[in-house]
Amino acid sequence: MGVFDLHVPEDWHRVFREISDPPGVVLLLGAPDTGKSTMANFMVYKSIEEGVRTAYIDGDLGQSIIGPPTTLGMTCPLEPPADMRGLKWDHLYFIGATSPAGHSLATAVGVKRLVERAKEEGAEMVVVDTTGLVAGAMGFELKFYKIELLNPQHIIAIQRTEEVEHILKGCRRRKGMKIHRLSPSQEVHSRSQEVRWAYRKRKFQDYFQRCARRAISLDAVEFINPELPLLTKEGIDERLKGRLLGLNDEEYFAIGLGIWDGFDGNSNKIYILTPLDNLGGIRYLHLGYLSLKVPL
Ligand SMILES: Nc1ncnc2c1ncn2[C@@H]1O[C@H](COP(=O)(O)OP(=O)(O)OP(=O)(O)O)[C@@H](O)[C@H]1O
Ligand SMILES: [Mg+2]
Repeated sequence: MGVFDLHVPEDWHRVFREISDPPGVVLLLGAPDTGKSTMANFMVYKSIEEGVRTAYIDGDLGQSIIGPPTTLGMTCPLEPPADMRGLKWDHLYFIGATSPAGHSLATAVGVKRLVERAKEEGAEMVVVDTTGLVAGAMGFELKFYKIELLNPQHIIAIQRTEEVEHILKGCRRRKGMKIHRLSPSQEVHSRSQEVRWAYRKRKFQDYFQRCARRAISLDAVEFINPELPLLTKEGIDERLKGRLLGLNDEEYFAIGLGIWDGFDGNSNKIYILTPLDNLGGIRYLHLGYLSLKVPL
C-alpha cells in the first residue's frame, strides 16, 4: 500500500511538522503491527517532497523492506517514495539472523553504522524503523540501548496502551530528545505468522532468483565465523552447506549475500551461490546463523 492509499490521521501531519523543525534522527518505536513502517514511509515521503535529504533505515531483519532478510538496510531516495518496499538499498549491514533476539548488540551496532553513513552522505533527516520487539527485558535491552547509541532527536512511539512506556521512561527527561506519542491508525491490520513467513520466503526467493555457483579463494578474503572462531577445516564442507554468508566489503558493509555450497581444501576455495556477478570488492565472508535449503 502506497502513501496515497493511506488513512492519514491529523496527528501525523502535526508530528511531521515537529520532527522537521529541525530535522534529525527520528526513531520509531512500537509493538508489532502498530503501523511503524507505514508511518516511516509517510514521513520519508513528506520530508523528501519538502526538499530535505532524507534516509530511511530498515532495522527489521525478518520483515525487511530494504534489502533481503537477515540484513539491515539504508536507502536515501532522490524522489519521494510512494511505497518503499522494493527500493534498492544504498548500504546493507549483515546480521545473519531473522530476529534480533540474541543479536541485540550486532543489531544496534549495525543500525548505528548505517545512521552514521547516512549522515556522512548528507542526510539531514534519518528515519529509523525498528522491529516490534519491545516487550519484556529483551525488548528493553534492544530498544533502550539502541536509543542510547543513536541519541535520536525524536522518538515516535505508537502505542495501543502503554506497551513502550517501560522504554520511554528512560528517555523522558533527556536533553535534546523529544517523544511523540500516537495511537495506531484504525486502518492498521495485523499479519499472521504464516503471512510473515511467506513474505520472508518470497524476499529470499527474489534475492537469490538469478544466482550462480561461484568460487572465492580464502587467500583473498577472511572467513569470519562468529560461532566457532577456531573451526577446523575438516568436515567444514558438509557442516556449513546451505548456510547464509554476508559478503562484506572493506568497510564491513554487505555487498550482497551468498549461500555456502562447498569447500575445496586443495585449492582453498569456498563455493557460494550468489546473484553477484562481481566478487572483486569482497573482503570478508561473514557466516550467518541461518541455513537455506536450495532451491528456495
Ligand atoms: N495509516 C494506515 N492506513 C492504512 N493502512 C495502514 C495504515 N497503517 C498501517 N496500515 C496497514 O497495516 C499493516 C501493518 O502496518 P505496518 O507494517 O506499518 O506495521 P508495523 O508496526 O511496521 O509492523 P511490524 O511490527 O511487523 O514491523 C500494513 O499492511 C499496512 O498497510
Ligand atoms: Mg514494520
